[in-house]
Amino acid sequence: MMIIQFEKIQSSSIILIVLVALMNLFTFGNAWSYNVVSFGGKGDGRTDSTQAFQTVWSNACSSTKPATIYVPRGRYYLRSGTFNGPCKNNAIFIRIDGTLVAPSDFQVIGNSPAWIAFRNVDGVTVSGGNLDGKGAGLWACKNSSSSTTCPSGATTLQFSNSKNVVVSALTSLNSQMFHIVINGCQNVTMRGIKVLASGNSPNTDGIHGQMSSNVAVLNSKIGTGDDCISIGPGTSNLRIENIVCGPGHGISIGSLAKDLQEEGVQNVTVKNVVFSRTQNGVRIKAWGKPSNGFARKILFQHIVMDNVQNPIVIDQNYCPRHKGCPGKASGVKINDVTYQDIHGTSATKVAVKFDCSPTNPCVGIKLENVRLTHMNQTAQATCNNVGGIAAGLVQPTSCF
Ligand SMILES: *[C@@H]1O[C@H](CO)[C@@H](O)[C@H](O)[C@H]1NC(C)=O
Ligand SMILES: *[C@@H]1O[C@H](CO)[C@@H](O)[C@H](O)[C@H]1NC(C)=O
Ligand SMILES: *[C@@H]1O[C@H](CO)[C@@H](O)[C@H](O)[C@H]1NC(C)=O
Ligand SMILES: *[C@@H]1O[C@H](CO)[C@@H](O)[C@H](O)[C@H]1NC(C)=O
Repeated sequence: MMIIQFEKIQSSSIILIVLVALMNLFTFGNAWSYNVVSFGGKGDGRTDSTQAFQTVWSNACSSTKPATIYVPRGRYYLRSGTFNGPCKNNAIFIRIDGTLVAPSDFQVIGNSPAWIAFRNVDGVTVSGGNLDGKGAGLWACKNSSSSTTCPSGATTLQFSNSKNVVVSALTSLNSQMFHIVINGCQNVTMRGIKVLASGNSPNTDGIHGQMSSNVAVLNSKIGTGDDCISIGPGTSNLRIENIVCGPGHGISIGSLAKDLQEEGVQNVTVKNVVFSRTQNGVRIKAWGKPSNGFARKILFQHIVMDNVQNPIVIDQNYCPRHKGCPGKASGVKINDVTYQDIHGTSATKVAVKFDCSPTNPCVGIKLENVRLTHMNQTAQATCNNVGGIAAGLVQPTSCF
């Protein structure tokens, strides 16, 4: 008995010693740790902590060992966050338990592209925390009679020209413009993201990606006033999985064909998504303008539509206010797009709308096990310049 107990005590204290040693190794041996509060940051919601964040970043970035930046609980007023690389290590871990708060006066950051910007970084993880973009003032300005004098607004969090990035368990609230932008990046994983902004807030896209490859957006919940996720030119190997979207304008590839010379979009998978009362479900959108862009190898799979206004849309004749494109046909080539296991309800009679370009018809469109109803009745499908096949049960009946 005694011996057994002694052994137990001995083994548990050995485990404890090993654990303490491992923790020391992590914080003091193999990684440097920087707490913003130790560098003058104050989580009182008022004191400007911009300088403290800049200092911890320059320490972490110039460290030759992996580095951790820690933001404890509290509200930190951050005028702007500029986190530029390249860094001397490729393992910077930013753990946020608190909230970063943007200036509520939209003039302060309204003309800069992003409030918090990471550029030229490799191997950065941002985990946890809230980003409060304080966008309401700018939304009201854009909604007022003097809207032409408002700045366009800053993206809340932007990664550009970066690689091997992870963003997890982060909440972005009330961005002035887009919430999260990935531009010119490779190997980016975002998981457990929450985006929250009012359904009538202008241009507050949840996550926007362009000129980037090998990006994944997983297990996230997005409610906003514009696209939940928008996919711009130059996107390849994008995986979007387990998303709840609404309110918002849905998941959109485009707008494409903004420019004549434009990179294409390819190999995009969107699966296990619930759209709840959104304006669109899955959409591909291109301006009715000449362009050498394209969208191909797109898969929309296992999707539930709950009272969505336009559940399935390809619109290649996008031309808001008939400015800059009247009468022109889209040059974007759309092919190999599959819609598989999509069901639920449409808030309008036309649940499937393919409106493609007369000069570049959509080809290789496939509908498989798609069932959408409108007010408990069969909905409609409309087709213009589109070719494809239907398989399994497809309602409304396809119009190919
Ligand atoms: C992608 O980035 C993650 C996080 O930095 C890294 O663990 C992983 O090895 C990278 N994958 C590739 C293929 O480089
Ligand atoms: C903009 O104004 C309209 C009409 O006054 C109102 O219904 C809408 O909610 C406003 N939007 C925002 C974002 O304040
Ligand atoms: C398509 O993208 C996925 C990642 O989303 C990747 O694993 C796959 O290899 C890509 N396929 C091709 C043909 O490049
Ligand atoms: C659809 O039908 C169900 C069951 O028959 C009924 O409970 C529901 O109210 C109907 N909804 C509409 C919008 O007609």
